[in-house]
Amino acid sequence: MTTELTLRRPDDWHLHLRDGVALRAVLPHTAERFARAVVMPNLKPPVTTTALALAYRQRILAALPAGADFQPLMTLYLTDHTAPDEMNRARDSGVVVGCKMYPAGATTHSDAGVTDIRRLDAVLDRMSELGLVLQLHGEVTQDEVDVFDREDRFLEQILAPLVERHARLKVVFEHITTASAARFVAGARPGVGATITPQHLIYNRNAIFQGGIRPHFYCLPILKTEPDRAALLAAATSGSPRFFLGTDSAPHARHTKESPCGCAGMYSAHAGIELYAEAFEDAGALHRLEGFASEHGPDFYGLPRNEGQVRLLRRDWSPPQGYEFGEDTVVPMRAGETLRWQLEL
Ligand code: NCD
Ligand code: ZN
Repeated sequence: MTTELTLRRPDDWHLHLRDGVALRAVLPHTAERFARAVVMPNLKPPVTTTALALAYRQRILAALPAGADFQPLMTLYLTDHTAPDEMNRARDSGVVVGCKMYPAGATTHSDAGVTDIRRLDAVLDRMSELGLVLQLHGEVTQDEVDVFDREDRFLEQILAPLVERHARLKVVFEHITTASAARFVAGARPGVGATITPQHLIYNRNAIFQGGIRPHFYCLPILKTEPDRAALLAAATSGSPRFFLGTDSAPHARHTKESPCGCAGMYSAHAGIELYAEAFEDAGALHRLEGFASEHGPDFYGLPRNEGQVRLLRRDWSPPQGYEFGEDTVVPMRAGETLRWQLEL
């Protein structure tokens, strides 16, 4: 039995850090494990310009614990009004790696998102020229489309035509949740990749309803079926460089999740590499973890792989029922349960 695991230091290619006291509460978890993270721009108000991204980056750096070695990779939030020239400012900043497209209304803080991706053709052309990555929240939002079908519908209606129309654009289909998304990405043209979260590798949608309704398993895109989970795990452990780690750790205060209208998002930064180690080990593929966590992401983004290492020990531990989160707490994935791998600090 493997009792310890040394990996090239990983990166998190999809992360929500929030701002203010919440940022200070969650950032240490990520910075302990990951050398870099792609920071999502869905603040309120959203990070729509390079100037806002630079200011947000400074707040993140200022919130880092002393001695931490961590680089935030910034993203801009695309709207119907994003200007192509903003892309040049983003590229020239040296710290913005891409732009996130939220279909308007798809998820937390997406009301300022894009109503019709065709309006962005000029922006996407400029991004292709400059080598900026498009990060997609891949769900359609129409009321008549079942919440479990929204990713598949996005894939057919939006993504497939988009990657043809913008043949040189680097596109990351973020937090994929379905067998069809995994199949699409595996067979797509070069320059198309996907992030996969720990929750979509570990749980199927039964988890939301196990013995009662469990708001801490509610995230978007929503958990899917067992065959979907199995297909995602197969993709993540396949060794294909198109799939890489993105936790989508999305902290919300406990009272906003345990509510008649609970927020979407699961918090996983406290065990952001350990959860994947468990999933990969259960699939008999621990030897594939380093590629997924530490190599495929930087290779896709055209950034150097990290030089440092992290060590995981096989040692049971239990995340607390809540971590401090401003005035409230944030309930972490696997709160009060056992995790098998522990990061050596
Ligand atoms: C994210 C959040 O809370 O910001 N929530 C989630 O369920 N994943 C937004 C997102 O990535 O969709
Ligand atoms: Zn997200």
